[in-house]
Amino acid sequence: MRKILVAGNWKLNGSLAGNEALVSGILAGMSNVQNADVAVCPPYPYLPQVRDLLSGSAVKLGSQDNSEHEQGAYTGEVAAPMLKEIGCHYAIVGHSERRSLYGETDAITASKFEAAQKAGLVPILCVGELLEERENGTTEEVVARQLDAVVDLVGIAAMANSVIAYEPVWAIGTGKTASPEQAQAVHEFIRSRIAAQDAGVAEGLQILYGGSVKPDNAAELFAKPDIDGGLIGGASLNAEDFLGICTAAN
Ligand code: 13P
Repeated sequence: MRKILVAGNWKLNGSLAGNEALVSGILAGMSNVQNADVAVCPPYPYLPQVRDLLSGSAVKLGSQDNSEHEQGAYTGEVAAPMLKEIGCHYAIVGHSERRSLYGETDAITASKFEAAQKAGLVPILCVGELLEERENGTTEEVVARQLDAVVDLVGIAAMANSVIAYEPVWAIGTGKTASPEQAQAVHEFIRSRIAAQDAGVAEGLQILYGGSVKPDNAAELFAKPDIDGGLIGGASLNAEDFLGICTAAN
C-alpha cells in the first residue's frame, strides 16, 4: 500500500518571519495528520531556517530545484550535494515553471533528476501537459516523452527511489483543478508506462497530483487508486489550508 505524500511547493514566497509563522502553524496541526507523509519546499536561502524549525518533527524538507552540475563555474546554481548537506530529503525537478519560464528541456530535467539521486536526494519529477496539448489530444504523448527522457537516462530501477508529480499546466495557479477522473486517467497511464518496464517499481511509485489542490477537493483526488498525494502551490502557504489537505488523507 502506497503512503500519501503531501508536499508544499512554496515557489518564490516567504520571509524569515513568515516562514516561522507558517511552519509553527503546520507543526501545531501535525498530530491530526494520520495517514500522510508531509514535506515543504521553501526557497533556497530559507532551507537552513526551515530545517531548524522542522527539527524533531516528521515533516521533511525539500528544494524546488537543483543544478545538473555538481560543482564548478555555474554562477547562480545550487548543487544537489549542497542541498543534501543542508538537510533536504526531496528535490523538485522539471516543474512546469522551470520548463516554460527558464527553458529547461526534458534532457536538462533528466540530468537534474540524475544529479539529485546521485547526491542522495529523492527527486520529485514534475510532468504535465499544456492546455493546447490537452485540447489537441496529446496529453499522453507529452507525459510519456517527459517521463521517458528520465527513465532512459537513469534506468527503470532508479525510479523506485523517486516521486512523480503530474501537474497539468492549465491547472496550476488557475483555480481549475483537473477532475479526479481526468487526473486518475493520467496517473494510471504513468504507472502503466513504468509497469511496462518493471511492475514492482510501478506498484511502489508515489504519483502526486498538483494543480489547484485545496482542502475541499483533496479527499476526492486522494481517493483515486493511482493518486498518492499532492504537490501543493498556493494552498501550501497557509497552514490551515495545507493541514486541511494533509488531513484529507486520514
Ligand atoms: P497551485 O497549487 O498553486 O495550483 O500550484 C501547483 C504547483 O505548481 C505545485 O508545484
